[in-house]
Amino acid sequence: MSDAADDRVLYEVRDRVARLTINRPDKLNALDRRTMEAIDGAVARARDDRGVGVLILTGAGEKAFVAGADIGELNEQDPVTGAAYARRGQAVLDRLERCGKPSIALIKGYAFGGGLELAMACTLRVAAETAKMGQPEVALAIVPGYGGTQRLARLVGRGKALEMILTGDPIDAREAHRIGLVNRVVPPAESEGAAAALAARLLERGPVALRYAMQAIHEGMEMTLAEGLSMEAALFGLSCATSDMREGTRAFLEKRKPSFKGA
Ligand code: COA
Repeated sequence: MSDAADDRVLYEVRDRVARLTINRPDKLNALDRRTMEAIDGAVARARDDRGVGVLILTGAGEKAFVAGADIGELNEQDPVTGAAYARRGQAVLDRLERCGKPSIALIKGYAFGGGLELAMACTLRVAAETAKMGQPEVALAIVPGYGGTQRLARLVGRGKALEMILTGDPIDAREAHRIGLVNRVVPPAESEGAAAALAARLLERGPVALRYAMQAIHEGMEMTLAEGLSMEAALFGLSCATSDMREGTRAFLEKRKPSFKGA
């Protein structure tokens, strides 16, 4: 199924994977307001579709995942509109991160600024060896505004995040993999297959368990260890109430593959 209602983001569902393609290749898929709204709409659509288990986000063309927020729009901001602009973008990425289904950023080419922030709001990241990633905002005399200062530090640690954000220098895919910023690095020709294989693996797992695991990790990172462990135990208990849990454990005992229903 394909939808051209807003061609800024192409949306297609195949084999329970919703593919969102940021589609502004003449501007290296830079995130203007319309593109952000289209991402938000497409994420909501994937979230609400019971036939979708995993999202893959990528950029149109081979040159860029997303080369950042739209610098033309940034140039027009004043202190009041700038704060609102950042808040709006952050909310879109928060909704992606918390949509309850795992998302994979498939990064070919540049993921700069808002592009890296979008990729970091995804659950997992697959990069082509040729990909380049960075937070170059300080070169424009701004700070990252779509969560970069927060998610990068949480993903790779404070030291590396400070280095990347203060220098603004990009890193290549191998370095991104070394520091834990991306989960897989593959030759460009294999990147589609690697993302599809990862999506297929996630689709084999219990969907409710995936949702609870993501919730436990994302929300737990903001809590004390004691609070996080308490939430984990509550979610563990909840997962024991699902028919999928009965099926998963029974299938193991019966030495067969489980068949999950997402309930
Ligand atoms: N916002 C708006 N337009 C952008 C853009 C952005 N973030 N990134 C690229 N573009 C546009 C360019 O202006 C150009 O448009 P034009 O053909 O109408 O002039 C087009 O995309 C192609 O980019 P170009 O710079 O010619 O490609 P390149 O291969 O020479 O360089 C980059 C690629 C990614 C190195 C370069 O485009 C760049 O540095 N982009 C900005 C990155 C950035 O600072 N992002 C963070 C923003 S907060």
